Amino acid sequence: MVRKKLNKKNNRKAKIIIDETTYEFPIYNSTEGEAVIDISKLHAEANIFTYDPGFTSTASCESKITYIDGDKGILRYRGYDIEELAKKSDFIEVVNLLIYGDLPNKEQLTKYKRLITRHTLLHEQIINFFQGFRRDAHPMAMMVGVMGALSSFYQDTLNINDSHQRQEATRRIIAKSATIGAMAYKYSLGQAFVSPRNNLSFSENFLYMCFSNTAENYKVSPVLAKAMDTILILHADHEQNASTSTVRLAGSSGANPFACIAAGVSSLWGPAHGGANQAALEMLEEIGSSKNIKKYIAKAKNKKDPFKLMGFGHRVYKNYDPRAKILKSICLKVLKHVGVKNDPILKLAMDLEKIALNDKYFKEKRLYPNVDFYSGIILRAIGFPPEMFTVIFAIARTAGWTAQWTEMIEDPIQKIGRPRQLYTGKRVIKYGVGRSSKNTR
Ligand code: CMC
Repeated sequence: MVRKKLNKKNNRKAKIIIDETTYEFPIYNSTEGEAVIDISKLHAEANIFTYDPGFTSTASCESKITYIDGDKGILRYRGYDIEELAKKSDFIEVVNLLIYGDLPNKEQLTKYKRLITRHTLLHEQIINFFQGFRRDAHPMAMMVGVMGALSSFYQDTLNINDSHQRQEATRRIIAKSATIGAMAYKYSLGQAFVSPRNNLSFSENFLYMCFSNTAENYKVSPVLAKAMDTILILHADHEQNASTSTVRLAGSSGANPFACIAAGVSSLWGPAHGGANQAALEMLEEIGSSKNIKKYIAKAKNKKDPFKLMGFGHRVYKNYDPRAKILKSICLKVLKHVGVKNDPILKLAMDLEKIALNDKYFKEKRLYPNVDFYSGIILRAIGFPPEMFTVIFAIARTAGWTAQWTEMIEDPIQKIGRPRQLYTGKRVIKYGVGRSSKNTR
């Protein structure tokens, strides 16, 4: 069905010659960016698979949500440039855009904000659920666990074939992710949970739930709330990255939305993905001073050393990540607002960026700062510890995950995701032959 929707006028074909036989496959144009070769019939026709570790040359789905031009450093949600959205929209408007395909009008937005706000509270029993975690648990461990547990609390929105339930589940996931994130933070501090305040915006409310306590009411600063909101917008979606692909793959089996988003949170946690914001700040703290930069650049270039410059490099961007550019400018505003005149970590980050961007290795490999390079400095200035950085990324990304999950469920050619493999293990052997004699297991 999707083949009909894709560019019919395109007569390009790809030919694959295997041994003496030629196989032809259709090429579909995208509206922007690379075309794709449809090799879905390859195995049926030629009894062979393609091999693409890390999916560097594979489009796993058709999508209308987010467009990235990695060479030009362009990011657009539903056709809108990220810079314009960061300036003119707020997070919930961007959520609505990602999910429904176009910017809402005033009335639609007001209604949507009300619907999201109605879902910020969590079932009281979830508080008991939290008590089961160790106090020193990483807040992402709590995010993964509690997100998955929502499927046991909100059983009236588990039917993925019911559009109303899908939309309600989406709103619950987005609204409750901020409450869960704030509760994880409070739990790790040993403080009482702070209930959401529905007269506040999404970002204001998140800051309020994190920084208010029973002894002192937190007055949300508009500058910090705007910075928080921009961070959420910039992290809201990024096409078929590892966590989004995880959500799609989990969802392709028909799993419920809360379980799928929990799978996405797990994938995001890794330091090569969302966990890089925590890792980047920790790396800057480890480097400590500009005089040590050269040593760490040398480590990053040494293939025998596992060290990488965190917050640098990207699978798609071979130019400056547009999100990093926006964050760098917010960084200065936030530091000024909180009264930090000369932040040594910001200075170190800027020095490191300059040296790396002029280094042959980084130039040749086209490694630029990504979204995680400056976000940690802003979040730290707002008052968050590094363990919370990836949680904030996850809260923002619930927008993209739910939009992509919805698009997948509504795609008529959606199938269970089931990649194949290049098997290089043993051929059949008789039971017991070759039993291990070593004691190393
Ligand atoms: N420091 C040093 N070398 C690097 C770095 C880095 N940060 N990133 C890539 N390289 C090298 C890499 O070793 C490889 O070298 P070679 O060609 O000699 O084997 C070359 O550059 C190409 O990199 P790659 O590993 O093939 O690229 P990839 O697309 O597989 O990985 C990445 C992309 C983001 C995982 C990687 O750049 C990285 O690990 N960066 C640091 C972690 C990070 O900042 N992650 C956040 C990504 S943006 C937000 C998000 O997605 O969540």
